[in-house]
Amino acid sequence: MIDIHTHFLPFVDDGSDSLKDSINLIKEEKLLGVSDVFLTPHYRKEMFEESKEKIIFEFNNFKNEIEKEKIDINIYLGQELFIRSVSHFRSILEKRDEIIFDINNSNCILLEFSYTIPINVEEIVHLSKVNKLQPIIAHVERYEYLNIEKIFRLKMLGALIQINASSIVGADGRGAQKLVRKLLENNLVDFVSSDMHQGRINYLKKAYDYCIKNYDSEIVQNIFENDAREFLL
Ligand SMILES: [Fe+2]
Repeated sequence: MIDIHTHFLPFVDDGSDSLKDSINLIKEEKLLGVSDVFLTPHYRKEMFEESKEKIIFEFNNFKNEIEKEKIDINIYLGQELFIRSVSHFRSILEKRDEIIFDINNSNCILLEFSYTIPINVEEIVHLSKVNKLQPIIAHVERYEYLNIEKIFRLKMLGALIQINASSIVGADGRGAQKLVRKLLENNLVDFVSSDMHQGRINYLKKAYDYCIKNYDSEIVQNIFENDAREFLL
């Protein structure tokens, strides 16, 4: 499996407070059967605004530690960009060189929004495409203002769709579970990820086991691994 959305990088995010916790989280991923992990610390104005240099420094440090501990897993760097509005997205595009911005130097960007205050996601997807970027909507099931029809439209506009493993198994409530299962049935999902933070439960394997029992195995391989390989590696 490949996990494209995690918060394991210590000291720059709300995912982990120490190198030791981060190492334990990575070891757990390995045990669950993950071969490649993308570290996507939050970029959110006034909350998580660490410099690009600091994030790269911590990433290299963490990578060295993984090698020292002889954990056989690959890590890559990205960010989860919190977008407040279309104009905010435009301003981020203008200063993209100052932040990590995309995932593993691909053209893919991982985007999240307010869960409750609606914003024009279609316009953000459109703007991304115009700028030759591939938007990935992080945990699409979390936004109160997006239903399956709206998610379908986003996909038709060229967005890729990420859902959280925790939602598949029902750990994020009945509403999220119902929606992600509908998305899975309609083949609207591109990635299933852990979105792990220290102190949470990693449901990736449990979600995989559920999917392999209930959906076409080729689709399951795509959403847990092949799509990540295609777009991000
Ligand atoms: Fe996240």
